Amino acid sequence: MNDENGIIRWSTDLSVNSPTLDLHHQILIGCLNRLYAIGGAWKQCLPAVRRELWQILGYCRIHFHVEEQAMAKAGTPAAILENHKKIHRNIITKMRASWDSFEQAPTRFPFDETLRFLRLWLLKHVREEDQESYGALMRGNRLVEDDIGRIRYADVAKKLNMKGRQGMDATLRGARVLVVEEVMDLRVLFQRVLQEHGAQVSSTKSVLEANTTIVAALPDLVLLGWSMDGATAFARELYQNHGVPVIAATFEPLDKVVEACDLVGIAHVLLHPASAADVARVAQETVAGLVPMRALLADQQDARYRAAYA
Ligand SMILES: [Fe+2]
Ligand SMILES: [Fe+2]
Repeated sequence: MNDENGIIRWSTDLSVNSPTLDLHHQILIGCLNRLYAIGGAWKQCLPAVRRELWQILGYCRIHFHVEEQAMAKAGTPAAILENHKKIHRNIITKMRASWDSFEQAPTRFPFDETLRFLRLWLLKHVREEDQESYGALMRGNRLVEDDIGRIRYADVAKKLNMKGRQGMDATLRGARVLVVEEVMDLRVLFQRVLQEHGAQVSSTKSVLEANTTIVAALPDLVLLGWSMDGATAFARELYQNHGVPVIAATFEPLDKVVEACDLVGIAHVLLHPASAADVARVAQETVAGLVPMRALLADQQDARYRAAYA
């Protein structure tokens, strides 16, 4: 399950027999893996460490909320559910303390110790407490699975009063967006849509050009053509060193790109062919910054699925 850098590979021995809750656990493991990938360079990557800690804390709250609903719906005995909720609360308390300690003194943050703690609770909690308390109840439980599959992560985040990067009501108004796209038609489309939503847009045709642009002033958001030369390294740098969220725009099928995007901290994926509404929605969701990429994509696919079978 693990390689030498500490990276955790999700495998079925971590499954709780629920595709939705398995995805949640994979998303959390993804956050942890990005911290492992940063490793010894963490002091040079404080924006990325900050983002992952914030995202783990926030996404855990979303996950626990959904998981507790699933457990209740699946008929978990009350005493077991109560005990499980208590464990969740303790984990949140500990993670909030980690977040506070990072915010107070980022360079003195106990990075390795925090990573050990996160790894321990994440794997132990999933493998022991999650699997043991509800794994069997969720096996083949289509009713509960469909129920929790309908929950939108962005709605849970709002319900839990979670704050995104720019508060609750993030809009594109005034946001400085850099479009990096070699295909002229796409560049024009992105620019037009984002400007219509009040963003200040600049654009470049290449990553090389974009590199010089961001030296002068960091944008709030980058929309990046994913197949361009140097795109991956550019995205990684924006994520690790600058804390700028990046949307990868791609013609590839999602399952071909999602792993690589996840590992370099891509904030969202825009799948072509994209309508003007898709561009605006993806940009808005990214600026809101409430929900991790793979959860946003799951919401989007569920919406498509629901629309197709309505
Ligand atoms: Fe869980
Ligand atoms: Fe749990």
